[in-house]
Amino acid sequence: MKSEELSKKKFYQWLPEERREFLKNEGIELSEVDSGALDRLDKLSENVIGQVRLPLGILPRLIVNQQAYRVPMAVEEPSVVAAANHAAKIFNKNGGVVANSIRNGIYGQIVLEVSDDFDLTNFREEFPQLVELANQKFASLVNHGGGVREIEASKKANLVFIRVLVDPAEAMGANKTNAILEFLGNKLEKQVDIKHTLYAILSNYPTQLTTAKVSLALDSIGGLEIAKKIVLLSEIGQNDIYRAVTNNKGIMNGVDSVLVATGNDYRGVEAATAVLANENGTYTSLSKWNIEGDKLSGTVTIPLAIGVVGGSIKSRKDVQQSFNLLGHVSAKQLAEIIAATGLANNFSALLAISTKGIQAGHMKLQARNLVATLNATEDEKAEVLEKLQQSKQYTQEAAMKFLKEIRKDKK
Ligand code: MEV
Repeated sequence: MKSEELSKKKFYQWLPEERREFLKNEGIELSEVDSGALDRLDKLSENVIGQVRLPLGILPRLIVNQQAYRVPMAVEEPSVVAAANHAAKIFNKNGGVVANSIRNGIYGQIVLEVSDDFDLTNFREEFPQLVELANQKFASLVNHGGGVREIEASKKANLVFIRVLVDPAEAMGANKTNAILEFLGNKLEKQVDIKHTLYAILSNYPTQLTTAKVSLALDSIGGLEIAKKIVLLSEIGQNDIYRAVTNNKGIMNGVDSVLVATGNDYRGVEAATAVLANENGTYTSLSKWNIEGDKLSGTVTIPLAIGVVGGSIKSRKDVQQSFNLLGHVSAKQLAEIIAATGLANNFSALLAISTKGIQAGHMKLQARNLVATLNATEDEKAEVLEKLQQSKQYTQEAAMKFLKEIRKDKK
């Protein structure tokens, strides 16, 4: 399109190629992108000019509720997949993870501004009828096994806070919940004592709580002393916010990787998880490890408002690939797999900290990233990697030094 024509349009109305051209003319270097992919991506988001890719790794086998799964993990940190896989092998030897996701629904909130004559007790009597009305209107959700489950309300000054619990069936349900809330909000503001609906939107408050548990024979983890260290670390995480937040970051390494691989809303889960970790007014670890008899037991609970349909899940080939790996899973099963993966990452971190330390494994893997940035042949990179790992020096300077040495030796 000519520049005069373009200038009449808003940036978001331009074609992705036009935006790229514009940026290139501004002197910005852009990475190559397949034009078909660019068109598809343009339909998924706004102002699209390219793509950021993540590697997709897998846990070849993680047993959850006696079923073995291939778990897709999309993450750029190599130690995350390695750590989860190490734990998965130990979990599997011990019979795998037992998990349960309570798919009770997600909350939505409607806030009404009301007049002085508003009567909350009378208003509450309308709720069964409102539930029925919404379920008639959103019959397709009901046909899929979901629907509005419950409405509650409280009043503060002239504001009425309505909480609507929506079962989204197999979806995450954000769009459907928002549609239901707007429908109810529009209906309610027509009532005499209600001035207007201030807002009607879903809440990311933690629900769909999913718990994963493992019981590990002490000899499968290196013995009683290591188990005791893991329990001590866990106790520190219950009381010390500096450790708690890092412990939880380790859990989210696994959780977010599977969320991203399956096209789920990791931002919503992250926000809800932070609230759950702070449930009693003090931020604490989401996981707990104890010695029970002759076993080390670990549990984690995570709010997982996730889905296997809806959003961009069906339209993204990369996400469909993840579902091909997982096999046919329900939202409940996927939530249980995600919580199990979070527990696997948590266990692996605690085990490493209690034994050889985190850095050893971490840096060994990080060395691959260091060599990837070298201006060298593939053979030279392989030699540099070997030298970095042998010498345990994991810096860019060391990589450069080894490359120089290799080249000198070859002259
Ligand atoms: C690193 O990505 C995550 C850990 O720090 C988690 C933890 O310390 O529990 C290893």
